[in-house]
Amino acid sequence: MVNVLIVGSGGREHALGWKLSQSTKIDKIYFAPGNGGTHVNIDINIDDIDQLIKFAITNNCFTIVGPEIPLKLGIVDKFKKKNLKIFGPTQTAAKLESSKIWSKNFMQKYNIPTAKFEIFDNYNSALKYTQSASHPIVIKADGLASGKGVFICNTLTDSLSALDNLFLKQKFGDAGTKIVIEEYLQGRELSYIVLSDGTSIIPMETSKDYKRIYDCDRGANTGGMGSYSPVEINVDIQNKLQKMMQNVIYYMNKTNTPFVGFLYAGIILQNNTPYVLEFNVRMGDPECQSIMARMKSDLYDYLIACVDGQLSNTPTPKWDQKHAVCVVLASDGYPNNYAKNEVIYGCNLILDNNMIFHAGTKKISDQIMTNGGRVLGVVGLGNDRKLAAIQAYEISNQIKWKSKYSRTDIGRY
Ligand code: AMP
Ligand code: GLY
Repeated sequence: MVNVLIVGSGGREHALGWKLSQSTKIDKIYFAPGNGGTHVNIDINIDDIDQLIKFAITNNCFTIVGPEIPLKLGIVDKFKKKNLKIFGPTQTAAKLESSKIWSKNFMQKYNIPTAKFEIFDNYNSALKYTQSASHPIVIKADGLASGKGVFICNTLTDSLSALDNLFLKQKFGDAGTKIVIEEYLQGRELSYIVLSDGTSIIPMETSKDYKRIYDCDRGANTGGMGSYSPVEINVDIQNKLQKMMQNVIYYMNKTNTPFVGFLYAGIILQNNTPYVLEFNVRMGDPECQSIMARMKSDLYDYLIACVDGQLSNTPTPKWDQKHAVCVVLASDGYPNNYAKNEVIYGCNLILDNNMIFHAGTKKISDQIMTNGGRVLGVVGLGNDRKLAAIQAYEISNQIKWKSKYSRTDIGRY
């Protein structure tokens, strides 16, 4: 039996922990720092790598990293130096997400289909370029910005405002001192996530998230307001996606940056070709909630196989044929300012077939309170996506707090 330490505090980490709690091979599960729905929580932040190492040594833990920030900080490299087992990519491999410029150059070099792009490191040259570019164009901060550093610019006015925020107002700090400007692609989007041990891959079931804050994909980009799995795609596209990810893993390995962990490609389908909009070096949130709800095999077997370089000897996972829909319940005002510390009613429902994953919550003497922008993720399962969405909304409607907000169209298109 092994103990597991899950680093992070979101719905993704709750869902990973929930799934791992079904494993017969795991004794204790710890979350650092966790949230109001996870236990056992330990009071160490995701960027306090020294304390996390101490905890993992003392409690003999296999560590799983949920979010990108500790990966960017090199948590995996530091754990490995202490001979601790940890699931996730090294700091260099994590550049696939932590630098859009690194990632775009990698894709260009190895012919991974992606939008045409230019790189800028100052306001004047970016301004000159946008003034002569035909719109729409997409402007992206190079560094990590929690999904909020991407601007779809339909007009020159939009572009000027994006450049103003990035270079002049420096709203994204260091993450926005260099930018990518790329062509706008149109098509169906999906999230394609695979597990890798550095050489082999095993795809997870397909999923999709809803990035914008308002119904019909209007308003600001967020971390994700809902998700579903599976996304129906034909075999030809499935094969193309799998081959493309296998290529990424092959070239990462060949260039001495083998990638171990969840590799997430944000995909847009155009003329039957999958284009990569971005890579993430971790599970998606809230895609993870929908995917884990459908995974029937023991997740631990796959995570340990990645760390041990044994993925090619591991059988393909089994999946529930039902559809899953995850509705994110947020605090009104997210992704900007929102209230915290509001009492949540109804999230202790006992459910047979549905799941309530906590994110921005905290528990204060048995009372669950809001503590973040995205507060809960409610997953419904059904024989088709419509039924899964109906279930997710039925549960969601029983949960209440003062400034609760959710989209009303998750899973419906
Ligand atoms: P990213 O964080 O790079 O995935 O971008 C966030 C969202 O912006 C994506 O999920 C897309 O909806 C949109 N987006 C990003 N790049 C492009 C592009 N080149 N063309 C069209 N939409 C894009
Ligand atoms: N749902 C998008 C992300 O995890 O980055």
